[in-house]
Amino acid sequence: MSPRPFAALLLALCACAGQPAAPPKTVIEQRPPSADQIAAAEAEVAKARAEVAAATETAQRARAEEEAARQSRDKALAEAAAAKAAMDAKAREAAALKLAEERTQPDADSPFVYDLFQAQDFRPQVLPLPADPADYAPLAGFQAMDIPADNPLTPEKAALGRQLYHDPRLSGDGQLACYSCHVCEHGLTDGKALGQGAFGKPLTRSAPSMWNIGYHWALYWDGRAASLEKQSLAAWKGANMGAAEPQKIVDRLNAIPGYRAQFEAVFGGPASVDSVPQALAAHMRTIVGGHTPWDRWQAGDPSAVSAAAKLGWDVFQRVGCKECHTGVLLTDMQFHNVGIGMANAEPDVGRFKVSNEEKDKGAFKTPTLRDIGDSAPYFHDGSAPTLEDAVDLMLAGGKPNPWLSADKLKPAQVTAAERAALLEFLKSLDERCEVQAPELPPEA
Ligand code: HEC
Ligand code: HEC
Repeated sequence: MSPRPFAALLLALCACAGQPAAPPKTVIEQRPPSADQIAAAEAEVAKARAEVAAATETAQRARAEEEAARQSRDKALAEAAAAKAAMDAKAREAAALKLAEERTQPDADSPFVYDLFQAQDFRPQVLPLPADPADYAPLAGFQAMDIPADNPLTPEKAALGRQLYHDPRLSGDGQLACYSCHVCEHGLTDGKALGQGAFGKPLTRSAPSMWNIGYHWALYWDGRAASLEKQSLAAWKGANMGAAEPQKIVDRLNAIPGYRAQFEAVFGGPASVDSVPQALAAHMRTIVGGHTPWDRWQAGDPSAVSAAAKLGWDVFQRVGCKECHTGVLLTDMQFHNVGIGMANAEPDVGRFKVSNEEKDKGAFKTPTLRDIGDSAPYFHDGSAPTLEDAVDLMLAGGKPNPWLSADKLKPAQVTAAERAALLEFLKSLDERCEVQAPELPPEA
């Protein structure tokens, strides 16, 4: 059959069924992909997958790197912070050490504190002198002090000397000031039997009181220094202050503007190994006693001391204490052997070392009794711990030895009440000590 009759037949059949004839469909040819095409596509997919995987891996690596970088940055930051903290701690420790060093007092229970390096605008405090510098008689009713012509006393020089006297920067180890061993609380001594100088060097004698020291013609227990200028230089260079090379200290002082200016004003030039002791001596001439209850009583105030103290003063004179602890200074400034330390294997020969005279063996300068209640322990070797011990030894006439000053020191017979009264009198020699640490010039 030809196609035409076949189509006509089909149309007829449809008409028979009563259905409208459907429009002829467009038939799209669905040919299956070739093997080549499949392989290429698969390759394409594989490539894309590989790219994705690579990209993922790169991204992961980048993330890991970023994380590592973050971690190492954190680590570096932490390390830097730790290092800085360590440095800060070190610096703080060093500063604390320095401050501690600067402020260290050899005597931990002394309330004295150096007020160092704090001043912003340093202005030296210039105190008025206790008397006319031209005719310097600072102790009421007593003669004028001998002042060397080449070191006249002025308020400014005394003020400068007062700072130096209180300044530990003067010592070899930067730890001790002159004042460290001559403090108020201990009657201008250090309160020790034998103290320690700079660098912890043990000293062989006890620190004496400074009251009215400007009146002494010979300084030290054996009187080996003939002036306060010489004594200051010796104390500064020697074991006490340990400034073996004083020029080095002088250079340091001259680098401190506040000192430099004062030395210029007072001595007309920078500090020197001579002018430092001159200023110290000037200050010490202003350490003047004379304000005890006993002084007030002697000046006419009967209520200034107790009845016991008055009786004690009588005993003191009667038993001959006054032979050596004489006058308003309560010392004759002479050298006597009262037997202290003479039983030692190698006794301190005292004045003998200076005079080379046999009679001076074991002789020491009579100490003042001003502030005696505060200056324990007693004697040149600090061997008497209490005032009672010292007084009993003196009442007994000292300790027997071939050089004893027996002409003046005799055993005394006193009752218990008289002994107690003697002690009362000695306590009426309490000085009013009002030392205040001066403000010190700060470092440049
Ligand atoms: C470590 C303690 C110490 C220091 C610091 C010290 N001294 Fe002394 N001072 C003593 C002792 C101990 C003596 C007695 C030494 C002797 O007689 O051999 C003494 C004696 C003296 C005397 C003699 C007193 C008298 O009765 O004759 C004077 C003055 C004096 N010192 C002033 C100074 C001055 C000024 C300085 C500072 C430059 C100073 N001292 C630093 C312990 C000290
Ligand atoms: C011969 C002179 C002389 C007579 C007298 C004398 N003394 Fe002394 N006195 C001294 C001397 C010197 C010293 C120091 C001795 C030493 O340290 O080696 C001293 C030390 C002292 C001390 C210790 C002072 C100190 O700072 O360490 C006292 C306290 C004392 N005498 C009280 C008296 C009394 C109280 C009498 C009378 C009973 C008396 N003295 C009689 C010469 C004398």
